[in-house]
Amino acid sequence: MATSIVAENVTKEFTLRYHRTFKEVTVAKARGHKTSDRFNAIDDLSFTVEEGESIGLMGLNGSGKSTLLKMINGVMRPDQGSLLTRGRIAGLIATGAGFHPQLSGSENLVLNAAILGMTERELKRKYDDIVEFAGLGRLLDAPVGHYSSGQKARLGFAVAVHVDSDIFLADEVLAVGDKPFRSKCMKKMMQIRDSGRTLVYVSHSPASVERMCSRVIVLEQGRLGFDGDPKAAIHYLEYDTPEDGEELTDEQMGNDI
Ligand SMILES: Nc1ncnc2c1ncn2[C@@H]1O[C@H](COP(=O)(O)OP(=O)(O)O)[C@@H](O)[C@H]1O
Ligand SMILES: [Mg+2]
Repeated sequence: MATSIVAENVTKEFTLRYHRTFKEVTVAKARGHKTSDRFNAIDDLSFTVEEGESIGLMGLNGSGKSTLLKMINGVMRPDQGSLLTRGRIAGLIATGAGFHPQLSGSENLVLNAAILGMTERELKRKYDDIVEFAGLGRLLDAPVGHYSSGQKARLGFAVAVHVDSDIFLADEVLAVGDKPFRSKCMKKMMQIRDSGRTLVYVSHSPASVERMCSRVIVLEQGRLGFDGDPKAAIHYLEYDTPEDGEELTDEQMGNDI
């Protein structure tokens, strides 16, 4: 089996700025305070994904999941190490990314499909399916700037799942969709998985990760915390214990199931 994604000692450094204005920076400097810090959002991370694997990417907020997806997608480059991928990549890594707010939903649909590498013929063939999947009706004629984050996610996801990709990425942005749409997306992602494509799925919902993924990578402050069996990963994260003071089901919490 061929490899799909290979990360070798990947590091991504960001700058955290404590002040927003010249005045604040000047005052802080005069007092000898630090005005910024550099930190590694992804820190010496190595792993290999084989073709056709479905990987759950989990970890607390700020642990580096979205940054890693952006580097796999190619919108960001590692500062150190290398991240190699094989084949076409599609997916939804941020709501509304790549959309033009003044263009209509259908105009953005065409634009987004082209950016993701869809040919005109391919788009003609798939256009009606994409529109149906998005389920936005007449709203497709309205500017995307007026869409809610859920509606933007619907449009972005509908286009992304119809691209013939070898690697499919889904960030937690899906969580903003309503329940019927989320179930539809889960079904579609399972089809993508079953067709032998590589899947990387970010989610905080243990139930959906267990259903969808054969392996889970847990990030901890940008480092590899755990890599292996989904059940063991969920236990490692302590996501299998009820939250303090409440014992709500996934469904009540609004998690994707
Ligand atoms: N463009 C950026 N500039 C500076 N810091 C960033 C940037 N993007 C993300 N970060 C920081 O990097 C860390 C990891 O972020 P992210 O990958 O979005 O985490 P996650 O998706 O796991 O919640 C966070 O501390 C976040 O604030
Ligand atoms: Mg994120």
